[in-house]
Amino acid sequence: MMNWEDREHDGLIKVTDFNQIRSKGKVLFKIGSIEIAIIDLGNEVSAFINSCPHQHTRLVDSSGGQMNGRVITCPSHGWSYDLQDGHSLVGSGRLKMVKLQVSGDDLFLNLRDLNEEW
Ligand code: FES
Repeated sequence: MMNWEDREHDGLIKVTDFNQIRSKGKVLFKIGSIEIAIIDLGNEVSAFINSCPHQHTRLVDSSGGQMNGRVITCPSHGWSYDLQDGHSLVGSGRLKMVKLQVSGDDLFLNLRDLNEEW
């Protein structure tokens, strides 16, 4: 898991690069108490707050998540979400998706894009 303290530059934080995503399939990144999961979906990368909207179980941990294509299923009660836009397929609610900026091979998060309620 990476932390953000030494990475901030002009509001942009490098969270990972495509080599890490491709080799690991996922990267977990923490900003304060907020954990962001970045998942390789093959032809795209999805980033979201790593917390189930139902009862806030972590959807991805160090061993991975319950993935089926671009759908992730919560290990607690089986609600599932489409990682393209976060909408629920089983259960209700929506994942909080995180917008990433791409520069070359690097993926950045802009702190200004984070919703203040996080
Ligand atoms: S906490 Fe995820 S389905 Fe209940």
